[in-house]
Amino acid sequence: MTATASLCDNDQIRSAVEFLSERFGDRLSCCHNAVILGSGLGQPAEDALIRGGDVCDYSEIPGFAATAVVGHRGRLVIAPDSATVYLQGRAHYYEGYSLRRVTFAARLMSALGIQTLVVTNAAGGINPSYRPGDLMLINGHWTFMHVRLADQLSVNRRLLWNAQLIETAAGLPTSLIVHQGSYAMMSGPCYETPAEVRMLSSLGVDAVGMSTIPESLAVAARGVRVMGVSCITNAACGLADGPLDHSEVSEVAGGIEDRFSAWLSLLIDQLNGEHTL
Ligand code: HPA
Repeated sequence: MTATASLCDNDQIRSAVEFLSERFGDRLSCCHNAVILGSGLGQPAEDALIRGGDVCDYSEIPGFAATAVVGHRGRLVIAPDSATVYLQGRAHYYEGYSLRRVTFAARLMSALGIQTLVVTNAAGGINPSYRPGDLMLINGHWTFMHVRLADQLSVNRRLLWNAQLIETAAGLPTSLIVHQGSYAMMSGPCYETPAEVRMLSSLGVDAVGMSTIPESLAVAARGVRVMGVSCITNAACGLADGPLDHSEVSEVAGGIEDRFSAWLSLLIDQLNGEHTL
């Protein structure tokens, strides 16, 4: 990357910070958590809006990459208590965006002073004990892309440990299974072949998707705590009958949104609790 490219990018981040600060004023400076909501998982942002949150379309924010993927609304929502920013949808590498653009939203959150980023995604289950509707807290990752991203995502063990306790917390509408496992990011845009899934399985990968890692690495390197959560929407290709398509993924994600939202709001309560100690 050239110095000019990096300068332009920093300028864009600065313009986006200025735009959002002007638009939301003090409300934004109080936010300490951000959540990136993946395919079909936008319900927590809708809930925050119903409760009186503020909203801004990605298209209004300077430098922000839009997403054309179904199930990604493409907007930023600030929760009514001003503690959490929800990013409803993300730009993907497989849409043709550079990694700078893919990581822009997360880097913007870091520039705004966010301390914890929760990244969520829809993923195909490879671990035979996983069922559609289960959650998986990401405790390790592989990145099968033809670019080098960074050395290591330092998974925050304390966040994982606390989040795992939520499974047994009162307040979840129905029982929700929360695993911990490793996530492999493939570059997409096609789903994996059954042969690739067999390879991933033999390596010990638990779930596979096409996002999450670049933005996590980008902000972990800036000192933000990162917690990744996969919503298992399907058995990965070749592990169940028939071909897989995005409408099935969106439909299953939509069907588990209530449980996911309930779980996420308990996680946010837990994170907010840390700030009021
Ligand atoms: N593979 C890759 N990405 C995905 C999948 C999958 O099976 N399901 C949801 N996103």
